[in-house]
Formats: sequence, C-alpha cells, structure tokens
Amino acid sequence: MPRTLVIPATVCLMLTSAAQAVDFKKDIRPILKEHCYECHSEETGKKKAGYVFDDLEVFKLDISPKGIVVAGEPGESYFLEVMTMPTSEKAHMPPKDQLKDSDIAKVREWISAGALLDAAPPPSALPARAAAPAMQAWTNAEGTTIQAALLRVEGENVIFKLQDGRELPYPITKLSAESQTKARETAGQ
Ligand code: HEC
Repeated sequence: MPRTLVIPATVCLMLTSAAQAVDFKKDIRPILKEHCYECHSEETGKKKAGYVFDDLEVFKLDISPKGIVVAGEPGESYFLEVMTMPTSEKAHMPPKDQLKDSDIAKVREWISAGALLDAAPPPSALPARAAAPAMQAWTNAEGTTIQAALLRVEGENVIFKLQDGRELPYPITKLSAESQTKARETAGQ
C-alpha cells in the first residue's frame, strides 16, 4: 500500500501539551541507552533487525505513520508493543529483560505527545520568522496537498518543516512529479 501523506492530528496539539510533555533527551534516551543500545546503536555497532536508536537522524525515519513509532498513536506503535507483549513472545524487547512499568508509561506518554526528538520550544520562544524557509504547497502522488517549508533533501527523503515547527521526513518518490522537481530545485540539487 502506498504511504499516504497523513499528518497526525496530534501534531496540532503538541505545542499546547509541550509544557508537561515527556522530554526525549531527559526521559526517554536514558531508558533506551540502558535497555536497547546494547543491540541497537551506532555506539555498540549492533543494529539488530536494522534498528538504531542513538542516531536520531536514523531513528527519526522510524517515526512515521508506517514506522515503528506512530506519533500520537501509542496503540499503533510496534516500538511500544515489543516492550509490552508477553516475555514469552520472540519479538519481546529487550529479549531477556522487562522494562519497568514506569519506563513503559514514559514511552507511551512520549509517543502520545507526538514522539518529538527535540523539546518543542514554547511558542513565545520561537525564533523570528525572517530566516525561516518559505512555506509552499506540496502535492503527493495521490493528489493530497500540504503547506510546508522544505528544509533539505536527505537521501531518499525530503525533510519538510510543518507550520507548527515539526519536521516531517517524506520519501521524495511519493511526491507528484512537479513537487519532486520543485523539491530538487529548492534544495539546489
Ligand atoms: C540483547 C540484544 C537486544 C536488546 C537489548 C534489545 N533488542 Fe531489539 N532486537 C534484538 C534482536 C536480536 C532483534 C531481531 C529479532 C528477530 O528478528 O527475531 C531485535 C528486534 C527488534 C525490533 C524489531 C522486531 C521485529 O519483529 O522485527 C524492535 C522494534 C526492537 N528490537 C526494539 C527494541 C527496543 C525498543 C529495545 C529496548 C527496550 C530493544 N529492542 C532491546 C536484540 C535486542
């Protein structure tokens, strides 16, 4: 099934919930470092099943409507499911360990709040708009249009910045031919 350009409704709610939201670097990274990096990190060089959780540019690609982390949807997130499924299941993570309920609760809360890797700045702290890349209309192959600024092209993905500041990686080949050309021109490629 082609990946459609779906932006979770929670994206719009994130700025309002940012104040009490779980912070990735402060709350989530230590959990992953202790329980997951051993087998899933650049640090150890082990990338079991291809997953790396310490290189945030890579991890970010797993945070998408079809990725293991579905922002705003803990119930749809396989990343959470592997931690909560019975330890007898082969896919249970970590394989021979069980995360504390309080750690799982933090992960669930982080996903619910939008699975941000960077703390969202409070609205008053947003930088002046002057230097920000321009908002433009982008259309995907299915004809859905969004407003976003193009930050850069990274490998197979274009990195959009949405109106609320969230970065959205999107496969360039899923854009309409016209938007693909525009993306490459804007990114100077
Ligand atoms: C001791 C090593 C080890 C640790 C620690 C570990 N994993 Fe894994 N992980 C694996 C291996 C091995 C696989 C591949 C399993 C397979 O393909 O059957 C895997 C696969 C996965 C998958 C994909 C599962 C699938 O069905 O494709 C996810 C998601 C995952 N791990 C997440 C995590 C998370 C999150 C943590 C920390 C809470 C973690 N892992 C900790 C070894 C580990």
